[in-house]
Amino acid sequence: MKSLINILDLSVEELDEMLRVADDIIDHPQKYSEVCHGKKLATLFYEPSTRTRLSFEAAMMELGGNVIGFSEASSSSAAKGESVADTVRVISCYADIAAMRHPKEGAPLVASMYATIPIINAGDGGHNHPTQTLADLCTIRRETGRLSNLTVGLCGDLKFGRTVHSLIAAMARYSGVRFVLISPDELRVPDYVKHDVLDRGGIEYIETTDLEQVMPQLDILYMTRVQRERFFNEEEYLRLKDRYILTPDKLTDAKESLRILHPLPRVNEISVAIDNDPRAVYFKQVLYGKYMRMALILKLLNIQV
Ligand code: CP
Repeated sequence: MKSLINILDLSVEELDEMLRVADDIIDHPQKYSEVCHGKKLATLFYEPSTRTRLSFEAAMMELGGNVIGFSEASSSSAAKGESVADTVRVISCYADIAAMRHPKEGAPLVASMYATIPIINAGDGGHNHPTQTLADLCTIRRETGRLSNLTVGLCGDLKFGRTVHSLIAAMARYSGVRFVLISPDELRVPDYVKHDVLDRGGIEYIETTDLEQVMPQLDILYMTRVQRERFFNEEEYLRLKDRYILTPDKLTDAKESLRILHPLPRVNEISVAIDNDPRAVYFKQVLYGKYMRMALILKLLNIQV
């Protein structure tokens, strides 16, 4: 039984195979429509979500399986003080696989130590979000045809943005990837990501506060929301929240081949005027996320199609 807690739990070869399965699901959905018949996915969400929870549920339904779960801690026995360890021991009696989102970093890892079913980290605090990375990798590969030899700009809240940390870890394994880290000084990528992933891997990167200056270099622009829920100080959030707002004029010097991603939800950091630009792929990214979650469920349940 294998869980997915960190994107590095999957080798590059496993990721390549999942990308191939996702392509096959897109091309031949009927082939997969009953392969999880009789299986149950539990969604254990201690923190709000639209995409991740509902895409996991849609993914399991499109595989012919069923879904149980809760969408907020207050409607589970966590509200009475039950621990994550006890909850997943119980859920293991009901379901074959579980996706967990939790505000505390490391909670899904703890869950995986006590569960007897595979646990999927569906986002833990400001730490990691590996299944968003699956969506991001699928989007980048389908839109550009590759995962190597890319200049990837990440913009916004690079400190608390867990999707950023997982994406850097995943893409640093492909050759010729260079990162441009665009953020206010207060929201730079944490040192542990820079030291453990970028410096240790000898990966080329620069840090800057100036999005427009670096725009012409970028193959990928990954915009992120400033994570209000992780700030200790509302004033600091209000000061930083609108620092980067992508508007059409800021794309004047961008490549025609640029692809703009965002894990969503969007607040104010991408103008709706960008939505119809062919370079904006953040809603396609949502759809690819569902296919990659289908591929992940199949992998963790050891179902070959
Ligand atoms: N991208 C993402 O995790 O969205 P949700 O918070 O809506 O799940």
